[in-house]
Amino acid sequence: MNILIIGSGGREHAFAWKIKQSKRCKNLYVAPGNAGTALAAVNVPIAVDDFQQLGVFCKEQKIDLVLVGPEVPLVKGIRDFFEADEMLKNILMVGPGRAGAQLEGSKDFSKQFMMRHNIPTAKAKTFFGDQLHEAEKYLESLAAPFVLKADGLAAGKGVVISSSLSEAKAAIHEMLEQKKFGEASAKVLIEEFLEGIELSVFVLTDGKDYVTLPEAKDYKRIGDGDTGPNTGGMGSISPVPFADASFMKKVEERVVRPTISGLKKENISYKGYIFIGLMNVQGEPYVIEYNTRMGDPETQSVMVRLKNDFVDLLVACAQGELKDQEVDVDPAHVATVVMAAGGYPEQYEKGKMISGLDKKLPAQVFHAGTKLKDGNSVTDGGRVLAVTGKGKNLEEAVKNSYEAVKEIRWDGAYYRKDIGKDVLNLTQTKTIC
Ligand code: AMP
Ligand code: GLY
Repeated sequence: MNILIIGSGGREHAFAWKIKQSKRCKNLYVAPGNAGTALAAVNVPIAVDDFQQLGVFCKEQKIDLVLVGPEVPLVKGIRDFFEADEMLKNILMVGPGRAGAQLEGSKDFSKQFMMRHNIPTAKAKTFFGDQLHEAEKYLESLAAPFVLKADGLAAGKGVVISSSLSEAKAAIHEMLEQKKFGEASAKVLIEEFLEGIELSVFVLTDGKDYVTLPEAKDYKRIGDGDTGPNTGGMGSISPVPFADASFMKKVEERVVRPTISGLKKENISYKGYIFIGLMNVQGEPYVIEYNTRMGDPETQSVMVRLKNDFVDLLVACAQGELKDQEVDVDPAHVATVVMAAGGYPEQYEKGKMISGLDKKLPAQVFHAGTKLKDGNSVTDGGRVLAVTGKGKNLEEAVKNSYEAVKEIRWDGAYYRKDIGKDVLNLTQTKTIC
């Protein structure tokens, strides 16, 4: 098959690495890709939301299967665009249409969806631009911490959690009145704070049936000990020890099945991923958010543990035949450490030469923000590399990742030193659930 992956991050490099191993893959392209995807595929310089050019490319190269990586093209309707074209509509695609992508594209839509289908989530109220006064009054009626969420896509920056009422009021003012996130903050949700430990659950569905991929835990904050601002994700581990059979059964019964049957009831055809961001609150699952794509850097950990031919799963999803598929998971433990540019998630420099990538490393290196310059990989984004180590237990996986990380250098490289540590401590002291 001729396969096109859309995107340019670590997630897309992990997809390319895995798809390249499939016997069914003939030609593999990534648009626009990075220096890492160039090792496994042909990079195509087309932006993720240039549907016209992506369509022309798919026709010219006789693409059979498109895997959409990031949320932006999904929310903008890439599937709808392809389905409206006589030739493109026959191409298999993994990724929902605009209607399904609202689960990620609008937090108000996804909250109402969860309420309609009795899916456990934090209580929330939505406020519009002309309701600043009501929103402030509502905040006054709540206890700290306050959780504010811009309704639309805000590149991972649309959630504010504040322990002070005055800060929360200032934030809602910025969002609703000053339109800090443009249209994305035309509506804002004020949500109950959930105390617990998070995990990411990944489901691949054809709208009728589904398979559950290995779960992962993401490390969102920039600093060790979960301190400092939120990022796209600074590391991940899989499996997650507290996601035991009994917890995952609750997730399946209370979240996954009602989500898929809810989509069906609402006549939303859905072929793609549902990434469920969950909070484990004293052993009970609550949905924090839905994403309609895979997570980054969770994908890197998930792909390393997935033993299936990935193309089989993707094709079955796109053809509506997931019923007969089973996921085969490597019982090994995996830990991914993200190496970022110094300064990220605020200002950072690009164009730094990366060294050490040609060494024999005890981990798999996935590129994220990199590009090729004169045959060398240079930094080209905030999150630069994701280094994924494997082991018979989490300690060993973490050790392998960090050993590889230490061999890779560039001017200003930064990474968290504590990926997996919280879970190792929890496992040792058995305080969870
Ligand atoms: P989101 O973009 O909705 O995933 O939110 C970003 C991060 O904010 C989540 O990963 C959580 O760490 C945190 N968060 C979001 N909603 C809540 C909530 N209701 N209670 C506690 N933490 C939350
Ligand atoms: N790592 C979280 C995300 O991809 O949204």
